[in-house]
Amino acid sequence: MNRAPIGIFDSGIGGLTVARAIYERLPHESTIYFGDTARVPYGPKSPDTVRRYSLEILHWLLDQGVKAVVIACNTSTAHALEALQAAAPVPVIGVIEPGARAAVSAMRGGPIGVIGTAGTIASNAYARAIQSAKPGAAVEQRACPLFVPLVEEGWFDHPAAELIAAEYLEPMKRARVDVMVLGCTHYPLLKPLLQRTLGPDIRLIDSGEETAALVQGALRSSGLGAPPGATPEHRFVVSDDEARFRQVGSRFIGERLGKAEVVALG
Ligand code: DGL
Repeated sequence: MNRAPIGIFDSGIGGLTVARAIYERLPHESTIYFGDTARVPYGPKSPDTVRRYSLEILHWLLDQGVKAVVIACNTSTAHALEALQAAAPVPVIGVIEPGARAAVSAMRGGPIGVIGTAGTIASNAYARAIQSAKPGAAVEQRACPLFVPLVEEGWFDHPAAELIAAEYLEPMKRARVDVMVLGCTHYPLLKPLLQRTLGPDIRLIDSGEETAALVQGALRSSGLGAPPGATPEHRFVVSDDEARFRQVGSRFIGERLGKAEVVALG
């Protein structure tokens, strides 16, 4: 079991930011990444639909013999974490609790900002996780759906991105947040733009990096870590459009992205 891969899944390409954080922190672990590129985006879909898609992916990953599952997608974590944990015989780790906990540790008295897809923000999952770690903490939330296509276009510094960021983040500035969670797989690629928009004093929390740290701890405590020195294998699987996944995905992950298999679900 120790040599079995970790399953990582997302609605599409964005979860590669979480995969990259896992490769960096756990260089001996093998992974299978599933991107549901046929059904992306999950952000505007109903909780029931996202839960159904997520369960289909979970069962496919379990059939591949994974030893743990990481839900890299914030929207899927918001709507489906409990359902997947109840259905899986292996640990299932989502991105929201690690991001929320890191935000609470970094807060300096002001409110905590959270940005994400429409579904993640409407679910209130980050606010609940933050308030269970720090009862009474003030949370300022904002859905920023246009950031996802901007990132996929590679418009990190485009004037349109500057304008949209200024508009979306105005309430964060007004509320004087001092820490803000990047509650969507795509947002870490906008970090320089977000930091410029909000100013240097606001700490940005990357849920993906925090999740990789939690996965490391979970493997260690369950004795499921790969043997030291094991050579990792990384498999990429998508439900559609392999060519675009490779092209845009390389922006998210760099050299590591090889050929992806195509598997249709549902
Ligand atoms: N992966 C999604 C998330 O982190 C963003 C893209 C989508 O809407 O599917 O919420």
